[in-house]
Amino acid sequence: MDDVTKNAYGRPWWATAVFYQVYPRSFADGNGDGTGDLIGLRQRLDHLDRLGVDAMWISPFYRSPMADGGYDVSDPCDVDPLFGTLADFDALLADAHQRGIKVTVDLVPNHFSDQHPWFVAALAAGPGSPERARFIFRAGRGPDGSQPPNNWPSVFGGPAWTRVPDGEWYLHLFAPEQPDLDWTNPEVPAEFERILRFWLDRGVDGFRIDVAHGMAKEPGLPDVDLSVIPSREEGATMPSPDDIRWDRDQVHEYHRMFRRVLDSYPGDRMAVGEAWVANSERLARYVRPGELNLTFNFELVEANWGAKTFREAIERSLRAMSGVGAPCTWVLANHDVERAATRYGGGAVGVARSRAAALVQLSLPGAAYVYNGDELGLTNVELPDWALQDPTWERSRHTERGRDGERVPLPWSGDEPPFGFSTAPATWLPMPAEWAAVTVEKQESDPGSTLRLYRRALALRASTPDLLEPEFAWLELPTGCLGYRRGEISVLLNAGEAPLPLPAGEVLLASGPLDGQTLPIDTAVWLRG
Ligand code: GLC
Repeated sequence: MDDVTKNAYGRPWWATAVFYQVYPRSFADGNGDGTGDLIGLRQRLDHLDRLGVDAMWISPFYRSPMADGGYDVSDPCDVDPLFGTLADFDALLADAHQRGIKVTVDLVPNHFSDQHPWFVAALAAGPGSPERARFIFRAGRGPDGSQPPNNWPSVFGGPAWTRVPDGEWYLHLFAPEQPDLDWTNPEVPAEFERILRFWLDRGVDGFRIDVAHGMAKEPGLPDVDLSVIPSREEGATMPSPDDIRWDRDQVHEYHRMFRRVLDSYPGDRMAVGEAWVANSERLARYVRPGELNLTFNFELVEANWGAKTFREAIERSLRAMSGVGAPCTWVLANHDVERAATRYGGGAVGVARSRAAALVQLSLPGAAYVYNGDELGLTNVELPDWALQDPTWERSRHTERGRDGERVPLPWSGDEPPFGFSTAPATWLPMPAEWAAVTVEKQESDPGSTLRLYRRALALRASTPDLLEPEFAWLELPTGCLGYRRGEISVLLNAGEAPLPLPAGEVLLASGPLDGQTLPIDTAVWLRG
C-alpha cells in the first residue's frame, strides 16, 4: 500500500502539497441559511477531488460569536451551530480521507473570544485573580487610570486596550471581542496542548497557526514607536522590525511545544504558521528544526505585478528557507488580502495575470496554498455599505472597508444569485449578478476556463517529478520576463510589454492562448525540453 504520509519522492506529504483554503462561510451552504457550513463542504468534496488538491485548510468553524468571522473562538473544541456539529466534522474528515485529501484546521492561540468561559470568569473574578492572569489585564495610566496602559493600536483600528467596569484594562491586538492570552501563564500552553490533542485524536492532519508571530509579548509592554506602523490603507504589509507588538523571540518556545505535540502522533502531522514578520530571514526562524513545518510566505502577496518584483520575492524566499532546510510555502491570496486578480489590475487583464501568476506559484519548489475562488479567477467584489461585516469597517469609523470583498460566497451553478451556493435567496454577503459567467458549472464545460487551467496544472504537477523535487535554476530572459528551470521543465512568465519569442520545447501548459511563435504579455507557460 502507498505510504500516504510521503509524496511520490519520499518527502513528507506537506513539503510539496497543494493546500486548498476553505473559508467555510463562503464555500457551500448545506442547510439553506445563506451561510456556508461543513455539510455543504462535504457535499462539494468532488470539486476538490477533481481540482486535484492534496489537502485542505478549513478556516475556523468553532463555536464563536462571529465578531471576527470565527477567529473569535468561544469553544475551540466544538463546532458552531452555524457550521454544523462535531459529527458533521467527523463525517467530512472521513470522506476527505477516503478521497486521499488531508484535512488541516485553524488553531487560534493568540486570543479567545470574550465569550469564552475563561474570559467570562476573568471579568467576574476581578483584579489580581488567577482567572485574570490568563489574559493581559493591567491598570491604566494617568492619575485615575483612565488612559490605556500603553499606546498600542489594534490591528482593526482604535486602541488595543478596553477598560472593564472595575477600572482595569485588557489587551486585544485585534477586536475588543478577542482578548489576548498571556502565554507566560503555564495554564495557557497547557490548554493549547489539550486543544491540539483534541483535534489530532479525531484524525486531523495538521493546523494553521493563526497570528503565529503574536503570542509572545514584549516584557513590560512598553509603548511602540507609532511612526513605524504603516497606515492600513497601504494594505497587507510586513511589519517593521521595530514594531514591538510582534515577532518576539519568546514565541519560538511556543512553536516548539506545538511541534513536540505534533511529532508525538504518527503520520507526519504538520503545522503552518501565519507569521507577518519584517522579512524572509525573520520568517525562516519559524521553521527552524523543531519548530513549525511550514510558514506562509507572503512575499508573492506583497509583490506588485512584474518580473523583477516576482524574481526578488522568489529569490529572497528560497534563500531564507534553504538556510534552515525548510520548504517554501507559496501564497497568492487568502481571506485577509485582496484577491490576486484584483491586485493585478482587475478586469480581464487582472484575471489573465492571476492565471499566469498561478502557473508561477504552482511550479515553484515547495508547498502552495490556493484560496477558494482563485481557481475560478474571482475578483474582489465591491459591496454596498449595508452588507459589510468585517469588524474593520466599524472599528475604523467607516474609513476602511475591510476584507469582505474577498470573502463573497462561491458561485457554483445557474444564472442568478445565489448560484447554487445556497437554497436561501439571501447569502451572508450578497453575490454579484456578473458571476453568472464564472460559475463552476460554466467553467467545467469551457476548456479555456481558469478552473480547467488549475486542474491541468495540478494534474501535471502531481505527475511531473521535476516539479516536486527541490532543483531550481534561473533562466536569464529579456527585461519584463521571468524564467526558471525545474529539471527538464522550463517556466516562463511574460510580465513585460512585448511578446517573447518562445524557446523550443513541448508546451505542457499555458495560462492563455499562444500563437505558436511567442509568449504573449501577461501569460506564463510550462515547457518540457
Ligand atoms: C489572522 C486571520 C484573520 C483574523 C486575525 C485575528 O490574521 O487570518 O482573519 O482576523 O488573525 O485572529
